[in-house]
Amino acid sequence: MTARKKIVFSTGAGVSAESGITTFRDAEGLWEKHNVMDVASHEGFLRNPALVHSFYNARRRDMLATAPNDAHRAIAELEKDYDVYVITQNVDELHEMAGSSQVMHLHGKLMSARALDDDSLTWKLTPDNYETTPETIIDGHHVRPDIVFFGEAVPMFEPAVELVAQADIFVIIGTTLSVYPAAALLRYVKPGTPVYYIDPNPAQVPHGVTVIAQPATTGMRTLMDMLRK
Ligand code: APR
Repeated sequence: MTARKKIVFSTGAGVSAESGITTFRDAEGLWEKHNVMDVASHEGFLRNPALVHSFYNARRRDMLATAPNDAHRAIAELEKDYDVYVITQNVDELHEMAGSSQVMHLHGKLMSARALDDDSLTWKLTPDNYETTPETIIDGHHVRPDIVFFGEAVPMFEPAVELVAQADIFVIIGTTLSVYPAAALLRYVKPGTPVYYIDPNPAQVPHGVTVIAQPATTGMRTLMDMLRK
């Protein structure tokens, strides 16, 4: 039995757009309504933790009202034929909800809280108990969102690079490729590896990348047709 091909996805906010989760930099995007440095940066959290806690409580509430879309499901379906890994910049867990079994969150997860005094301590938040404040105490620890703020390290980047370096196929979906180091993953594919980029308004990418300028749901169907050829 030949080993199944390894297909690695790198997804951004666009893969969740058709589930109703607003992206960051599209028109009406999240960063048009909130100052990213106030609500998603290390300095902003130190300056006003209550504002940051309430921002993430609102994003958890919004996310809990959404569901995976056909793009998340198509990626999960591919596990029948490929060894599928998803590296996501998203903090929603719609890939897991759609059935993807190997998901890596580069920027953290909404439904997780982390001890303020110990980065290795995290707790899963539940749909009926997800609000946190600066006064919240879990197991004797004050907590923060388990999110990588701007200005903080991305601990999962090295493991993500190793995955991309082993990919037989690399697929980027729904990202402006404007935030590093996530945007640099593309550089780590083995020479000759087919790379696809699904995005209705694609950013500039190196020559040789197959751009599918469609929304994630239709773009995944186009990709599946291409992979079958
Ligand atoms: N299907 C696919 N892509 C879409 C769709 C859709 N239906 N709708 C919009 N897009 C694309 C946009 O064209 C854009 O390229 O999704 C991308 C969204 O880009 P951003 O809003 O910049 O989101 P992302 O690239 O994931 O941001 C990266 O920035 O704010 C930080 O940590 C945050 O993880 C986030 C990071």
